[in-house]
Amino acid sequence: MELHKTRIVQKLNLVPIERRLEALYEAGFNTFGLNTTDIFLDMLTDSGTNAMSDNQLAAMMRADDAYAGSQSFTRLHQAVKDVLNAQYFLPAHQGRAAENILACAYVRKGSLVPMNYHFTTALAHITEKGGQIVELLYPESYKIKSSHPFKGNMNLEALEAYIQKHGKEKIPFIRMEASTNLIGGQPFSIENFRAVRAIANKYDMRIVLDASLLGENAYLVKQREEEFKDMPLADIIKLMTGLADIIYFSARKLSSSRGGGICTNSEAIYKELEALVPLYEGFLTYGGISIREIEAMAVGLYETQDETVISQSPSFIAYFVNEAEKKGVSMVTPPGVLGAHVNAMEVCSHIPQTQYPAGALAAAFFLISGIRGMERGSISNQRDENGNETYADMELLRLAVPRRVFTLSQIMYAIDRLTWLKDNRELIGGLKFVYEPPVLRFFMGRLAPVSDWPEKLMAKFRKDFGDSL
Ligand code: F0G
Repeated sequence: MELHKTRIVQKLNLVPIERRLEALYEAGFNTFGLNTTDIFLDMLTDSGTNAMSDNQLAAMMRADDAYAGSQSFTRLHQAVKDVLNAQYFLPAHQGRAAENILACAYVRKGSLVPMNYHFTTALAHITEKGGQIVELLYPESYKIKSSHPFKGNMNLEALEAYIQKHGKEKIPFIRMEASTNLIGGQPFSIENFRAVRAIANKYDMRIVLDASLLGENAYLVKQREEEFKDMPLADIIKLMTGLADIIYFSARKLSSSRGGGICTNSEAIYKELEALVPLYEGFLTYGGISIREIEAMAVGLYETQDETVISQSPSFIAYFVNEAEKKGVSMVTPPGVLGAHVNAMEVCSHIPQTQYPAGALAAAFFLISGIRGMERGSISNQRDENGNETYADMELLRLAVPRRVFTLSQIMYAIDRLTWLKDNRELIGGLKFVYEPPVLRFFMGRLAPVSDWPEKLMAKFRKDFGDSL
């Protein structure tokens, strides 16, 4: 049951399917190219789209605009100390800016960065500096259907073997991503994180925690890890940040605001990074973030400790995943955070990976529902150093459920249309690139259908739904 009420609302557009088809062609069959005038439910991401609280909005009004020494920054710094338990804080305009600073400071040609799983922008910054990443998950994590509560766990044996094989000198840090985004928002356990810490201590290495989805990871620790079932969320969060040397985050997610930052309890680390912030982001007391957002970020950080705030999105996602599964739609299980993840490899099993089944499913789902999701499959992968495709481990359509944004009846509508699409799955066809930028191609790339399948899918929609939108 929601422990909030809605006081400010935004009208949505539900345009006819014929317009949605036009919009898809205009967008190059890439949901990033769509405009919200054509979108009914925007489930692209939770980044910068979580609902803000009354207290966040109120705080934005008292913003203290100053280039240096703003009181707003002091309040944010205090929130970082109180919530994340870190004494030093460097603001950055969003998560990937923090990744850039860390890559600039620590990654060189030949560097190796082990991690539980990559995130697109983290990978891009590391490879841009000539480094390489390696993903060390347990085999269970790659299973779409699983009852394992912590599919984001680092493979401890593989991590230790990797360090021994390559030597710690080549490894600037171990990266742990809370609620591993690209494999379906799957958390890691504190038991696992403690073991990673023990390995890092043994070899005298640093751990970088990507805390963008830390609140939700902590919530699932409370739900799924016996030792923590009675511990307040605030304490679980501190326990997790306490296991890392460097914590960075996208505040667009963590604190339902905009912005980002890096924090640490090590003065030495702070000094290594400090000069890069004025160079790339802005002065140390704003880091490229608007002062109003800094106020919203501070309040949002405190609210991350509130279970009634953090539980809402994972609960709706669990409902979404369980109901869709009951109707025969293949979903990533157990339900994770950020969104419900549809297994495009199964729904579009007739589309080869060379024709991007997850991208095709994202386009088809928008066409028949007006719901915008995000491809999280091979289009989101980057080519290797020889220019060859690297096919994703999972082909997923991510339907994000930002915090406190959608109603349950909207979620039911999404499940209903998804079920119809699954029943008509053979009408979905593949996609091909017509414009492929060299970096982060999933953002700007343009694609085209390999046949007239979108028209045929629309005709079937009209047959089944009549004049309905
Ligand atoms: N790390 C994780 C785990 C993320 O999910 C994101 C962003 C970032 C870093 C980068 O942060 O966007 O503020 O620069 N994820 C968004 C998403 C884009 O839709 O999942 P950013």
